[in-house]
Amino acid sequence: MKETAIVTGASSGIGAVYAERLARRGHNLVVVARDQARLEALAERLSGRYGIAVTALSADLSRDDGRDRVSAMLRSDEAHSILVNCAGVGAKGPVLQSERTGLESMLTLNVNVLHTLTVDAAQAFASRRRGAIINIASVVALMPERFNATYGAGKAFVLAFTQAIAAELEPYGVRVQAVLPGFTRTELFERAGVDIEAIPPEMIMDAGDMVDAALAGFDHGEVVTIPSLADVRLWSDLEKARASLAPHLSLRHPAARYAAGGGPG
Ligand SMILES: NC(=O)c1ccc[n+]([C@@H]2O[C@H](COP(=O)([O-])OP(=O)(O)OC[C@H]3O[C@@H](n4cnc5c(N)ncnc54)[C@H](OP(=O)(O)O)[C@@H]3O)[C@@H](O)[C@H]2O)c1
Repeated sequence: MKETAIVTGASSGIGAVYAERLARRGHNLVVVARDQARLEALAERLSGRYGIAVTALSADLSRDDGRDRVSAMLRSDEAHSILVNCAGVGAKGPVLQSERTGLESMLTLNVNVLHTLTVDAAQAFASRRRGAIINIASVVALMPERFNATYGAGKAFVLAFTQAIAAELEPYGVRVQAVLPGFTRTELFERAGVDIEAIPPEMIMDAGDMVDAALAGFDHGEVVTIPSLADVRLWSDLEKARASLAPHLSLRHPAARYAAGGGPG
């Protein structure tokens, strides 16, 4: 059976590159976003070039009916064995200068939709004992104070959730990866009203290079891939430090510095 990959946010940017790279690897595709015309043009191009089947699914994932169409595909069709959660929106400026409703709809797409589709895929793929889920987070997951707090915290959720579900799915032979891009040249900035020209060019990666690196990380078996990070020990040291906290985090007695009259002095 030829495996089918569902790629959300495939009408532009990182998702469109994932669709192309997965088509090149011989996967059939379901490409999902709102812009039907762009999806159909992509589907025609990729099916013509690679001889694969591509379904263009126009859906607003922020709406329950749009999201449920993707959920139903994941759960019902055994051919769907790869999910790339790429649909997302960026932010402009800090929380104090943002409309609360805009922040909430960003969380709906970047967090709730990704969570729902990952759970659907996890349960379906685990029962079939095969499959892969790729979640696009961001490096701001590791430095949420440096960007819009809601966006950064949402991406921190994606990272933590992906690491946790990867551990849960490992015994079932289902692969899970979180990808943490830095600035990547896409439409995200223009859509959010941010001037990409104000960002130093040496900090911006091409979407093609970013996705190729992320797929190389996937092929190497990484759960977390940070395409810009040359010295991978920086990441493994952070993970080791996190693991070394574990035995100290839940104990019967408070730490001595919190005892009445105690403290650092
Ligand atoms: N670019 C960066 O610097 C960067 C860095 C780190 C992480 N990321 C993450 O990478 C992911 C992809 O972003 P990108 O940079 O490729 O931006 P992009 O070019 O703007 O792509 C976003 C995609 O999401 C789709 N989308 C937006 N709202 C949607 C909705 N309600 N329902 C369905 N699809 C929707 C868009 O298509 P339609 O408009 O056709 O619906 C588009 O295909 C996001 O999660 C983003 O947070 C980006």
